[in-house]
Amino acid sequence: MLEYHKNLEIFGDIEEVSMDNYKAYLGNVIYSQDKDTLVVKEKSYILVQDGIVQGIFKDLPEGFPQENIIDWGNNLIIPGFSDMHVHASQFLQRGMGMDKKLLDWLNTYTYPTEAKFQDKEHAKKIYGLFVDELVRQGTLHVNCFSSIHYEASEILFELLLERGLFAFTGKLNMDQNSPEFYLEDTESSLRSTEVFISNYRQKGNVQAAIVPRFTITCSEELLAGLGKLAQQYGTPVHSHMCEAISTIKASKELFPNYKNEAEVFYHNNLLGQTPTIMAHCIFMDDDVVQLMQNPNCMAVHCPDATANINAGGIMPVKKLLEMGINLAIGSDIGSGASLSIARGIASTIQHSKIRNMFDPQWEAVNLSEAFYMATRSGGRYFNKVGAFDKGYHFNALVIDDSNFPGENLTSLERLERFCYAGDDRNIVMRYIVGKELII
Ligand code: GUN
Ligand code: FE
Repeated sequence: MLEYHKNLEIFGDIEEVSMDNYKAYLGNVIYSQDKDTLVVKEKSYILVQDGIVQGIFKDLPEGFPQENIIDWGNNLIIPGFSDMHVHASQFLQRGMGMDKKLLDWLNTYTYPTEAKFQDKEHAKKIYGLFVDELVRQGTLHVNCFSSIHYEASEILFELLLERGLFAFTGKLNMDQNSPEFYLEDTESSLRSTEVFISNYRQKGNVQAAIVPRFTITCSEELLAGLGKLAQQYGTPVHSHMCEAISTIKASKELFPNYKNEAEVFYHNNLLGQTPTIMAHCIFMDDDVVQLMQNPNCMAVHCPDATANINAGGIMPVKKLLEMGINLAIGSDIGSGASLSIARGIASTIQHSKIRNMFDPQWEAVNLSEAFYMATRSGGRYFNKVGAFDKGYHFNALVIDDSNFPGENLTSLERLERFCYAGDDRNIVMRYIVGKELII
């Protein structure tokens, strides 16, 4: 293998002499550098060693082992998607009660659906279907709610781990303002959360999260206890915030000493003290924006959920991007109906255009920004995922769009068309840390 040495110059700083443990994936490569820059490298090789990207090259050195070249021809190769807010326990509830408003929908459909996860067999079956569907849709990085049940939450954690996904998940907490059949007492909620996060802190690429449902369903005692645990164990936090006019009003009544929901979380060590992922963030006054302008905080746009449950507004995505807030996309099933983050990209752009009609000060979001949210930005709290920089995990999707007739399109036009008009049938391969994921 020594003869490779002289050819290695084109690989920059790769120092190894042997190429035997390298793989080279050939295709039209697209990934986000930042919100304004999509890198497009046509007919190029992504060089991968042990599941880690080493670089992207136009040519391979002479004598590179042919059997280590995976030729995807004219297909696109993009990073796996990041779904940063989704309820695994609402998988069966998609498309139900879509004529209701949030609080009514939660009481009528959601709490009874989630209560069924007390049954471990039910949890195994439904969470199995959920994880399969994530993979089918190309979501390789995920931040998901379970239910209030300890055992079901363990089952979800293990299934994510078995599949090799990069994930945060945790046992849900709620000790007030929900029906008797779906409610915890404060002390046992805290105790089982501590057991969960100490047992499951991190296994493989799955990490335990602390998951207060939202301020309304959590007493201040519970929030304070959870904040203490988050700090003690360095655990990420995941919740809903500033979602609907009705929930903001209810939260103000329940927490009169705080100006807004963000302050409730912040003063209980649940906003920005550890990585914090807040779904929705639709109604963001300046105080809330300020608290979220923290590298530890991320707001998750869930456009389909917003439209279905009619929260009364649309996230000001362009404004928050300009203000430097970390943003991601979430499918938020069951208020969203599809687990496709490609669809989430299209919806993000569409919703921002609707918002722009009413608030022309902020332009609509473009493909580069939405794709960034769905991949690199969404994946920022996982370990090097969502892009193909040197040192990143090769978590990738191969997109075959040959079912669409049409010639002379650029790779970016094809990516856009896949997001709007394609579906999971166009995803012909999924790689996680360089390994093929079988669906
Ligand atoms: N707020 C509190 N719980 C939920 C939920 O399950 N879905 C949505 N969309 N919002 C919530
Ligand atoms: Fe949600």
